[in-house]
This record gives sequence, structure tokens and C-alpha cells, in this order.
Amino acid sequence: KYCVFLKVEEGNLWRSDCRAKGGSPGFKVAILGAAGGIGQPLAMLMKMNPLVSVLHLYDVVNSPGVTADISHMDTGAVVRGFLGQNQLEDALTGMDLVIIPAGVPRKPGMTRDDLFNINAGIVKTISEGIAKCCPKAIVNLISNPVNSTVPIAAEVFKKAGTYDPRRLLGVTMLDVVRANTFVAEVLGLDPREVSVPVVGGHAGVTILPLLSQVKPACSFTKEETEYLTSRIQNGGTEVVEAKAGAGSATLSMAYAAVKFADACLRGLRGDAGVIECAFVTELPFFASRVRLGRSGVEEIYPLGPLNEYERVGLEKAKKELGGSIDKGVSFAKK
Ligand code: NAD
Ligand code: LMR
Repeated sequence: KYCVFLKVEEGNLWRSDCRAKGGSPGFKVAILGAAGGIGQPLAMLMKMNPLVSVLHLYDVVNSPGVTADISHMDTGAVVRGFLGQNQLEDALTGMDLVIIPAGVPRKPGMTRDDLFNINAGIVKTISEGIAKCCPKAIVNLISNPVNSTVPIAAEVFKKAGTYDPRRLLGVTMLDVVRANTFVAEVLGLDPREVSVPVVGGHAGVTILPLLSQVKPACSFTKEETEYLTSRIQNGGTEVVEAKAGAGSATLSMAYAAVKFADACLRGLRGDAGVIECAFVTELPFFASRVRLGRSGVEEIYPLGPLNEYERVGLEKAKKELGGSIDKGVSFAKK
């Protein structure tokens, strides 16, 4: 059934089967920035995902070592490594899902926007590659500042004529993961039972947890609301400060990225009722609850009823978001 014939190539001997050809059922996924703090645990977790048949690991440094290491895991996905910009196109060709944690992280005292000068160019180059080699892929963009890098990618895709708002998603899942954890702590619940919608964007006041819509239904005192909102909005900074110069969230981010990528793949497979929060490009540019399906985002849900605290927060979020979006759009148009 499996071992069709023996194959000898450049000294390697193996029995050719559907797995060796990367032909087993499942999706083809590329991670760009795969040798980084997020990229490595993300690669490991995606190698464990049964929905993945082929995993491409691309970076400008160290991807051969990470690829060799991950490829020894006895899970289904075939792993291939790609190093340096002249292998970017090979890394992207044929991919169903592209996950991008490429770029520099924050150090204490920096805002996410301070990363713009370096990461904007990285995201632009990568987006040009996607437009050329896998324009139909779902894109999960992690690189900060997300509020500006997603508009950059959208502009690149528009210029290339490949823009499909359903397929470009900024990853804000870590905000939801944190919100579930912190809310569960306050309520004395298991975080797996808690679901907190977080909308807006992915920086400071643009991160807007909707505590009035937490499931299971509950209520919070003014002090709890202020504590939770502030902790969720500053979760990234909490980790940056604790790491004291050694980077930002990597392990919780890899977990969140895999949770989100898995939702995208289940949507692509045609599963019903896959609903998550993500930064989408159609309002324009706002993190919302979305339904994921065969073409990416198939429905964007309205915010729902907000209380007064959330209405004030929404105005603040919109004001700051506008500037970050414009910054990304003008960079990409230059
Ligand atoms: P890191 O420095 O550990 O890893 C980044 C990797 O990107 C490195 O391996 C680097 O070689 C690679 N890289 C640099 N330029 C590249 C290019 N042109 N093409 C491909 N790869 C390239 O950083 P990290 O901790 O993994 O964080 C990566 C990014 O993710 C940062 O911008 C960080 O702010 C962001 N981040 C976002 C979220 C979120 O919730 N969206 C959460 C955490 C971190
Ligand atoms: C996070 O929220 O952890 C990331 O955006 C990284 C950062 O710089 O805070």
C-alpha cells in the first residue's frame, strides 16, 4: 500500500511513498521567520498538527538547523527548509497558509510602533513574494506593529492585483488568550471555559476587551473592569519587561498562533462554526469576531451592544488605530 518502489537520490535511499512526495491529505503551510523566538516553537507545534501535510520553514538565518531538528519528529507533515531571500519564492510556492512571525521584537521602553522602521520593509518584501507565488494563500501576519503591517500587506496585494480581504488576517489571538486567562483568574474558573472577545487592534489602547460579552455570562465591578482592561492591554509589555531585553512573548505567542492557524485550516477544510477574533482589513482595518471558512473570513460580526466603559474605549482605540493604519498605507505606497 505504501512502499511502491525504492528510490536512490544523491546518496539517500528511501522507499518512495505518498508521504515522501508530500502528497498526503492536508494543507501546505509556510512559516516565515521560522528560526526566531516565535518561529521555532510555532514550527514544532505546526509539525504536530494533523491538518498539515507539508511545512515550509523559511528564515534569513539558521533555518537549516531548525528544519533538520523539526524534521525528526515522527508526525505526518513533511518539513522543508529555505534560507535567504533567494529561496523565498520556493518557500511560498503552492502554500495554502502563510504564517509570518518575521521581524524584530521589542525591548523594554519601546512601543510596538518603534519596530516599524525595520519590520515594515520585511513585511513588504514578504508580501510581494506572496502576491507573486501564492496569491490565494491565507496570510496570518504576526510581525509588529500589526496595526501598521497588515495595512502594508494589503497595499502590496492591491498593487499586485491579488488583494482579497478575506485572506489577509492580522493575528490578535494572543490578546484573546491573555484575556481568557486573566478573566478566568478573577472569576476562579478554568480558562478553557472562558471566552472573551477582544476587538480593535494590537497595541495599547487599541486592544479592546469586551468584558460585557464574556462567556459564561458574568459581571465585573468597576475595579475588576479597570484591572482586567489594563492587564490585557499591557500583557505584551508585562512579558517584555520580565524578559528584560531578551525579547517579547514567544511561547504564548506560538501557542496563540497555532490556535489561530488551526482555526484557519479547519475553516479551509469546510468545518462549520469556526469563529475567532482577528485583525481584518474591511472596516477598514479592525480586529473583530470573524467566521472562518473555505475562502478565509466569510463573515465579520458586528461589535454587539457595548457598555459606557467600552464605548469610551472604542473611541480611544479608533483614534490611535487611524494613525497606525495611515502610516502603514503611506509606507507601502512610497
Ligand atoms: P525573533 O527576533 O526571535 O525572531 C524573528 C525572526 O525573523 C528571526 O529568526 C529573524 O532571522 C527573522 N527575520 C528577520 N528578517 C527576516 C526576513 N526578511 N525574512 C524572514 N525572516 C526574517 O523575534 P520574535 O520574538 O520571534 O518576534 C517576531 C515578531 O513577532 C516581532 O515583530 C514581534 O514584535 C512580533 N510579535 C507579535 C505578536 C502578536 O501578538 N501579533 C506577539 C509576539 C511577538
Ligand atoms: C505581544 O503582545 O506580546 C506582542 O505584540 C509583542 C510585544 O511587543 O508586546
